[in-house]
Amino acid sequence: MARAPWGCYPWLVLLCACAWGRPKSLDLREDVRNCSISPPYLPVTVVNTTAQLTALRQQMHTQNVSAYIVPDTDAHMSEYIGDYDKRRAWITGFTGSAGIAVVTMGKAALWTDSRYWTQAERQMDCNWELHKEVGTTPVVTWLLTEIPVGGRVGFDPFLFSISMFFPQSLRLSTPTREIQPQ
Ligand SMILES: *[C@@H]1O[C@H](CO)[C@@H](O)[C@H](O)[C@H]1NC(C)=O
Ligand SMILES: *[C@@H]1O[C@H](CO)[C@@H](O)[C@H](O)[C@H]1NC(C)=O
Ligand SMILES: *[C@@H]1O[C@H](CO)[C@@H](O)[C@H](O)[C@H]1NC(C)=O
Repeated sequence: MARAPWGCYPWLVLLCACAWGRPKSLDLREDVRNCSISPPYLPVTVVNTTAQLTALRQQMHTQNVSAYIVPDTDAHMSEYIGDYDKRRAWITGFTGSAGIAVVTMGKAALWTDSRYWTQAERQMDCNWELHKEVGTTPVVTWLLTEIPVGGRVGFDPFLFSISMFFPQSLRLSTPTREIQPQ
């Protein structure tokens, strides 16, 4: 009879442990970047992509393109690709299997689906905007607002299938932007 209160004791300990270890609210998280504070908060998992972006923008300047598209696939449209083909991971720092990057002279943006939002916030530095959208339409819409009319968009034609040939939709847009295989 008298032991009843103490029977609860292990549960009490467990409850306390759970309360102690509960996830912190988003603004206190230390495993994801926070670009809205100055200086930005960057966890150790973030890759500094400043040098990569500078190198790409130098090439873009030489080739006179306003934007360059970096997809997540290889020339065989593989979902899982060899290290040699990890262009998107190199330029963004984000290593998830799905996600498309676009670099302009002033901005850099990644589109990926909900599976990867947290991973992207852990791996990308504040050079990168994260767009939580999928498909090519949001990318094209963004490009049309970011690049001037008549501006040129660079891409590697080996990395786009005919069916997913979304640079095409830029050409079909009005007013048109020029598509420039690199
Ligand atoms: C970034 O930090 C500010 C100030 O502490 C906070 O209000 C905001 O919610 C944080 N954002 C993220 C994504 O953690
Ligand atoms: C990132 O690297 C560049 C040089 O490539 C350096 O100037 C810059 O301070 C670095 N940024 C951070 C946040 O460490
Ligand atoms: C660069 O591209 C623009 C279109 O965006 C064009 O008007 C201009 O003539 C090009 N400049 C050179 C040097 O090719």
